[in-house]
Amino acid sequence: MRSILFVCLGNICRSPLAEAILRSQAEAKGMALRIDSAGTGSWHIGEPPCDHSVRVAKAHGLDIAAYRARQVCPGDADAFDVIVALDAKNVADLKRMGMANVYKLGDFGYGGEDVPDPYFFPGFEGFEKVFTMIETCCTTLMTRLATGLE
Ligand code: 4NP
Repeated sequence: MRSILFVCLGNICRSPLAEAILRSQAEAKGMALRIDSAGTGSWHIGEPPCDHSVRVAKAHGLDIAAYRARQVCPGDADAFDVIVALDAKNVADLKRMGMANVYKLGDFGYGGEDVPDPYFFPGFEGFEKVFTMIETCCTTLMTRLATGLE
């Protein structure tokens, strides 16, 4: 089974949304995919996603309340076929860990843009924007996974 790991900084805002969105798209298409998410940082290990991410997911019919944050580890490079980072800093951090199979989510639909870190946005609106960005890019990512990423 193909496997994908989404990576952001804290694993409490962006990458849990990416995990849930791609999982739901894969289920809808009947595509067998193992999907997980992790953070480059250790601050939030074991914590649930942030309230705004839980809320925006719920508004779109996805339940991420039971997700728990974990930190990315070197073994993830072998454990997952594809690692998809949410921003350029995440890409750089993963490459510094020696990972080669790293992609950036914004390259699948937003001209290489970073998915901005909504943790530092005031209010809820940033999370709707981030949800839309992730959903759009995941739709393309799904197609590319079916046809070959390279
Ligand atoms: P995320 O957001 O990377 O989308 O999960 C963040 C969450 C927490 C922190 C940074 C980003 N933090 O510094 O604690």
